[in-house]
Amino acid sequence: MTTKVTAAEIAAQKEFARRVRELNCAREEPPVAHVHSFGCQQNVSDGEKIKGMLADMGYGFSNTADGADLVLFNTCAVRENAEDRVFGNLGALKHNKKQKPDMLIGVCGCMVQQEHITERIKKSFPYVDMVFGTHVLHTLPQLVYEAMTTHKRQISIPQMDGVIAEGLPLRRESGLKASIPIMYGCNNFCTYCIVPYVRGRERSRDPEEIVSEARCLVEQGYKELLLLGQNVNSYGRGTDVNFPELLRRINAIPGEFKICYMSSHPKDATRELIDTIAECEKVTRHFPLPVQSGSSRILKLMNRSYTREHYLELINYAKERIPDVALTSDIIVGFPGETYEDFQETLSLIREVKYDSLFTFIYSPRKGTKAAEMPDPISQEEKGKWFRELLEVQQEIGCSSYHNYIGRTLRVLCEGPGRTRDGCLTGKSIQNIIVDFDGDKSLIGSFVDVKITDALNWALIGELVKEN
Ligand code: 5AD
Ligand code: SF4
Repeated sequence: MTTKVTAAEIAAQKEFARRVRELNCAREEPPVAHVHSFGCQQNVSDGEKIKGMLADMGYGFSNTADGADLVLFNTCAVRENAEDRVFGNLGALKHNKKQKPDMLIGVCGCMVQQEHITERIKKSFPYVDMVFGTHVLHTLPQLVYEAMTTHKRQISIPQMDGVIAEGLPLRRESGLKASIPIMYGCNNFCTYCIVPYVRGRERSRDPEEIVSEARCLVEQGYKELLLLGQNVNSYGRGTDVNFPELLRRINAIPGEFKICYMSSHPKDATRELIDTIAECEKVTRHFPLPVQSGSSRILKLMNRSYTREHYLELINYAKERIPDVALTSDIIVGFPGETYEDFQETLSLIREVKYDSLFTFIYSPRKGTKAAEMPDPISQEEKGKWFRELLEVQQEIGCSSYHNYIGRTLRVLCEGPGRTRDGCLTGKSIQNIIVDFDGDKSLIGSFVDVKITDALNWALIGELVKEN
């Protein structure tokens, strides 16, 4: 049973927000908040809710912590370097707090769901006023109110399966692209991954809520909807609306817009999903399918529940059904016990699939996960060498796969100024590939046809096709 936050609880939080707003109105200057979300899109999406609630409490926003009345770090726990960055930034805030003792500092998100991290914050960062976990995000108004009025530290990190909170205010980062969380949490327990421990059990939002949010966003003029979940392929498990059906329902909303999604797990990716992507013209021709390793032996140790062969079957079916599909993946190098031979299998898989781009990571041990207890004899230096070898191989493949687009005309959502030439525009194609082209700024926010004339290893260059 999924626990939904009740309407009464959301209303109670609204009342706390109102009280904070009253306190804020009494200040000489309107208060300013700085919110920094680290990590994945899911966290960025939580950051939009945090900002929505803070706006309700009367805060304006600033891009820097300097001079802010409230600073909130929405943290990520996926790799050690993400955590190190947060500790570094928290350390720097000591100075801000000294200069402005009544400022509030908060830390929330994935990192603080881990006990050893919370203990470290409590001990080493006494000037942090609020620490709260992923399951109580919606109680931010109450936490701020208590921190303001009692001047006591607020720590709220319930260990639970997780909740769904509908109806929170949102402050979206863009007027063009909108994220829609469709599910929260994860049940997969890949042995390297901290996410199931910090984000709780898998829970799906009601399809009606999602479709109506999508319809509203399209009516407001949003051109790209990003459906978010740790494993969107298991959306709606056990109900009559699975992920392909959800895609079909959103695809049926009238208007020109793009539907993107992330992340997807190969063990739950089905032929039905691939057929749906092929048939739904608004769904991006981008199939992100994180493989993590090309060695079936390592995949087993990672508890990924698929083999290299099964993965390649899916990829080949996707290539057959969606000829212009762009394939991307996540790869971990140096998983405990991985040998150079295993790593070579990853390289051979990458050569065989010919990904358009890759997100590559060196394995980072996460306390409490199974992999952190496994023997890990390969040195960091050696893992670094493998990592560089992987990047070189991908560089060649990425380059050649982008060259195949030269001469073709792609439908592109124009997003803003580009980077390749002065005055050019940039956008993303239906394959989610960056395309730069010359054109008038008035095109920003609309779909245009661009004929591809050149390829870099990270973007395509093209010419606007004039409409008759
Ligand atoms: N070490 C390195 N990379 C990791 N990822 C997840 N956990 C770890 C870890 N412990 C990577 C995976 C995942 C992406 C979001 O982050 O490749 O798909
Ligand atoms: Fe980081 Fe994972 Fe949490 Fe996203 S869900 S913020 S990637 S730990």
